[in-house]
Amino acid sequence: MDTINVPRHVAIIMDGNGRWAKKRKLPRSFGHKAGASRVQEIIETSGNMGIEVLSLYAFSTENWKRPEKEVENIMGLLRHYLKNNSNDLRDNGIRLNILGKIEDLPLDLQEELKIALSKTENNDKMILNIALNYGGQDEILRACQKTMEDFLQQGKDPSSLEAEDFEKNLDTQGQPMVDLLIRPSGEFRLSNFLLYQCAYAEFWFSDILWPDFSKEEYLKALEDFSKRQRRFGGI
Ligand code: IPE
Ligand code: IPE
Ligand code: MG
Repeated sequence: MDTINVPRHVAIIMDGNGRWAKKRKLPRSFGHKAGASRVQEIIETSGNMGIEVLSLYAFSTENWKRPEKEVENIMGLLRHYLKNNSNDLRDNGIRLNILGKIEDLPLDLQEELKIALSKTENNDKMILNIALNYGGQDEILRACQKTMEDFLQQGKDPSSLEAEDFEKNLDTQGQPMVDLLIRPSGEFRLSNFLLYQCAYAEFWFSDILWPDFSKEEYLKALEDFSKRQRRFGGI
């Protein structure tokens, strides 16, 4: 593909696992498993395209409302994914970063996260953000809290606040803002994903359910992005 404008930061809301399973008269857990198996190809393609940051929405602060069994199933899949793929991430130059409140996740998952984070910490080809127990509002509030603490500690006046004082306390610190936000599954909403970072993101929606979201579909989104005219408020 002849893509000239590659987005620096792509964010994907991996939605539609439940409906994918329902269409096949299977339990929702099958949909989550099929969804998890889509991830590798999308990561590889992103790396090959020269994307700097890929953010994948895996579990939101609102997803705790789901039945306990489903939550346990998703946490188990995440643990399994990290166990089986962290060496691959390490060997492919990918640095893992977690968006969200890690300390409220099950302890065994936290352990697996720590291992994967340290294995990949020196990599610099691409950052893979996995959003886990993540909510954009929660992230903004946590960043506000940290910024207030910084200001108190340094005796700084609130009126001197600059964007960078705040942005360095976001879970995406040091990363570019989102250029392209992809949401499969036919829903047209952000569902609390990267609210601050999507200020000037281009959106790409598709009816395809996440477990069916192929490399070809992803390339279509990237190709479409490269034709967009971004003005950022200018002319
Ligand atoms: C996305 O698929 C996975 C998570 C939110 C964890 P869903 O489980 O939301 O699938 P649908 O939207 O019910 O089809
Ligand atoms: C968004 O999907 C969260 C993830 C994909 C992890 P949801 O299925 O939770 O979003 P809503 O409920 O349709 O807004
Ligand atoms: Mg959903």
